Amino acid sequence: MSNFYWNRKHIVDIGNLSVKEIEIIMDLTDRFFVGLEQSKIEEPILKGKKVLTLFYENSTRTRCSFELAAKNLGAETIDISVATSAVKKGETLADTVDNLVAMGVDAVVVRHSSSGICEQLARTLFKEIPVLNAGDGLHEHPSQGLLDFYTMRKALKDIKGKKITIVGDILHSRVAHSNISLLNKFGADVHIVGPSTLLPFGIEKMGVTKHHFLEPAIENADLIMMLRMQLERQKAGIIPSLGEYINLYGLTRDKMQQYCKPGVFVMHPGPMNRAVEISSDLADDPKCSLILDQVKSGVAVRMALLTLTLKGGMINENVA
Ligand code: CP
Repeated sequence: MSNFYWNRKHIVDIGNLSVKEIEIIMDLTDRFFVGLEQSKIEEPILKGKKVLTLFYENSTRTRCSFELAAKNLGAETIDISVATSAVKKGETLADTVDNLVAMGVDAVVVRHSSSGICEQLARTLFKEIPVLNAGDGLHEHPSQGLLDFYTMRKALKDIKGKKITIVGDILHSRVAHSNISLLNKFGADVHIVGPSTLLPFGIEKMGVTKHHFLEPAIENADLIMMLRMQLERQKAGIIPSLGEYINLYGLTRDKMQQYCKPGVFVMHPGPMNRAVEISSDLADDPKCSLILDQVKSGVAVRMALLTLTLKGGMINENVA
């Protein structure tokens, strides 16, 4: 990894990141990943920085890994729990943000149910400090897309031309939107499959091949990404029944052996509905499942994103 210049303040989506920027993020992630594998204590390059996690929706993986990432680099973290904050007394997002900026935070990691809110915050209230999108509504989850991409590249080496199939509730999946955008930039052969009510209208324009039946979608796939059925966002009647969905789209060992080529990998961004979108024996099978590798990559990716956005400018190979 050589010296490079970074001048992007916010990470709000994948669409706006260039291939060069993504390669820089991947290189830096790799450097941190190797350090984590070797239990290396990183230089506290973000010492004195205060990273705020502002989550208006629940999270386990994203919130914890951003916190760990910040702490691994010497930053302090402040967590606003919306459930016990003044938001519950009716405080607006704008007022919450103004107050937090006044307290002197240096970066904010935001999860919110409103699509596009991170872009809006980055352009207005948080202009001066980095905004890192931790999932905004149905729009994007860029750090998840990047950790998925890092995990895929470790498993498949080159992504170009590889058949990658995303299964399930694409409509409500910000993870799928970030992944499709990223995989297209790197020349993957992206397929999606699900009931028509869960595939966004016009999704083919994103350069994906659309299926309604699982078999052709996963046949010859190099990697399959199963998505959570987002029951909390789905309107009543969007699928005839969960049982039918499981029969048609749930991935099991039998279906994998019947339709897939040997050596196919399986991913899931979590949280999983075991025995709905994926059977437990597949999810827990270290020969094909990359699910915990995704989680492990998440800390390193978020260390890279915090380093780049908080330091910016010319960064040398020691990230000094
Ligand atoms: N993948 C993901 O975003 O998980 P969390 O909701 O636990 O953060």
